[in-house]
Amino acid sequence: MRTDTLEPQDIPALDDDVLAELLTRARAAAAHAYVPYSHFPVGAAALSSHGSIYAGCNIENASYGLTICAERAAVSSAISAGHRQIVAIAVSAPKVPLTTPCGACRQVLNEFRPDASDMVIVLDDHDSGHSVWLDDLLPQAFGPRNLHKAVEREMSSLQQQDDHVG
Ligand code: THU
Repeated sequence: MRTDTLEPQDIPALDDDVLAELLTRARAAAAHAYVPYSHFPVGAAALSSHGSIYAGCNIENASYGLTICAERAAVSSAISAGHRQIVAIAVSAPKVPLTTPCGACRQVLNEFRPDASDMVIVLDDHDSGHSVWLDDLLPQAFGPRNLHKAVEREMSSLQQQDDHVG
């Protein structure tokens, strides 16, 4: 049984102040972006189910494919601090308002979405922020739940075999 399951009442209040703070932290992180190739800085700030915030920026590499997106840097920081449930993340690209997470980052975000709720994505509209749901950015996602279901089906088919034999 998973012990890190969040109940709806455990989710920190996602009020305007918290979302504004997330956006501020994402904007600050973008200032640290290492982007000598694209010149496209991005910052992200992830809010854990415990209410703590972890920021990250994009980190490029001369071997382009090794680039780390800001969202994944922020998620890595949250996971490294022991937080596996991310309830919200702000993403800020100072050069282009309303920049959304890339496809790969959407998949990574889905991995750490709380069981009992969707994840809020705060986009930087260069104003007070625009919130969208991860489920709208990545509908019908494949994720950990699919693998859990496979295990459950295997267990139940083993149980049926047992019942049949016994
Ligand atoms: N980038 C991010 O950091 N996050 C995204 O979701 C979109 C793309 C970065 C990767 C690369 O350093 C630069 O933006 C241009 O693609």
